[in-house]
Amino acid sequence: MEKCKLLGRSMNKSLVKFVKDIYQTNEFVPLHAPAFNGNEKKYVNETIESTFVSSVGKFVDKFEIDIEKFTGSAKAVATVNGTAALHTALHMANVRAGDLVLTQALTFVATCNALHHMGAEPVFIDVSMASLGLCPVALEAYLDEYALIDELGAYNKLTKQRFKAVVPMHTFGHPVELDELLVVCNKWNLTLVEDAAESLGSFYKGKHTGTIGELAALSFNGNKIITTGGGGMVLCRTPELGVKTKHITTTAKVPHPYEFFHDDAGFNYRMPNLNAALGCAQMEVIKEYLVLKRELATKYEHFFEGSDFKFVKEPSYAKSNYWLNAVICPTFEERENLLSETNKSNVMTRPIWTLMHRLPSYSACDRGPLTNSEYLEQRLVNIPSSPV
Ligand SMILES: Cc1ncc(COP(=O)(O)O)c(C=O)c1O
Repeated sequence: MEKCKLLGRSMNKSLVKFVKDIYQTNEFVPLHAPAFNGNEKKYVNETIESTFVSSVGKFVDKFEIDIEKFTGSAKAVATVNGTAALHTALHMANVRAGDLVLTQALTFVATCNALHHMGAEPVFIDVSMASLGLCPVALEAYLDEYALIDELGAYNKLTKQRFKAVVPMHTFGHPVELDELLVVCNKWNLTLVEDAAESLGSFYKGKHTGTIGELAALSFNGNKIITTGGGGMVLCRTPELGVKTKHITTTAKVPHPYEFFHDDAGFNYRMPNLNAALGCAQMEVIKEYLVLKRELATKYEHFFEGSDFKFVKEPSYAKSNYWLNAVICPTFEERENLLSETNKSNVMTRPIWTLMHRLPSYSACDRGPLTNSEYLEQRLVNIPSSPV
């Protein structure tokens, strides 16, 4: 493949050509498209023929077991989507209305929405340049300045609101610095809940992301490494927590052949069997996808080598799924040129999310300094990442 040492407009043209060569097409190249080349139709048809298309069925149980085996999680609980999984995980971490949750300003809005809908408030902390995820040093600095601790845990010394959880997000599949975050969580008596929506297939020091925190959420939205159409999964660190989590996501119904008794105000967050069928077929090919995605990332890495555009690589301590490839442009102007020229040429690229504290719903939330987040917001562009 051609190696690019060019800047500005020539870079944009070379990138368009490079991407079209990779995908062997002159048609539109999406950012991330799902692929269904295995048993997807067969399993989905089976659910239709069995009539078990809804919230009970063998594929839901199998999909949970497949994810447990793949990730090493003690218990996986399938949900309707990743936002519902995160809402459930936060509820199980004892986050309640009025509580504070420390998370990233640089994330997809669902991270904040999940806690907002339960009446909790996000507090925005900067990301580290090594992982693009929650920075343990920034987290510790914020808590040292604004928090105190008593027998009930940490609280904000001005508002007296309780800090309950820390929610790092493994941005684009790159694992955050979990050991260092755990040290801060333990010191301040906070529960670590991983937003692993983007990181199925990513490993932190040999352990699957989402299995280090007390709880975690995965997403199987159509743009993720594997999809169930829409779907999510809560990963629980212990089997006991798993049983309680399954109970709360299934209307908290006490098992009985015909009586209805619900011992809590549960959620109806069950993943339908129809979606789980798709998930089971996708899990049969995930290892193949991971190899293809790593090969694609290596090609991009070589392409950008020696230029002013910095390809985002996995952190040294981790093995990333390279879900969404990204490049950091030298300036905001270069970012604008890259976005406009590639999209004009039928190659889909996208800027990173607007930082959460700039959105109307979250502009009043407290935050620490966000220097790295702001730097990335100005420069980072996602580039086509479907496995080929
Ligand atoms: C970081 C992050 N968190 C949460 C979600 C929510 O997942 P879902 O779209 O399945 O609700 C997503 C993906 O969409 C995500 O990227």
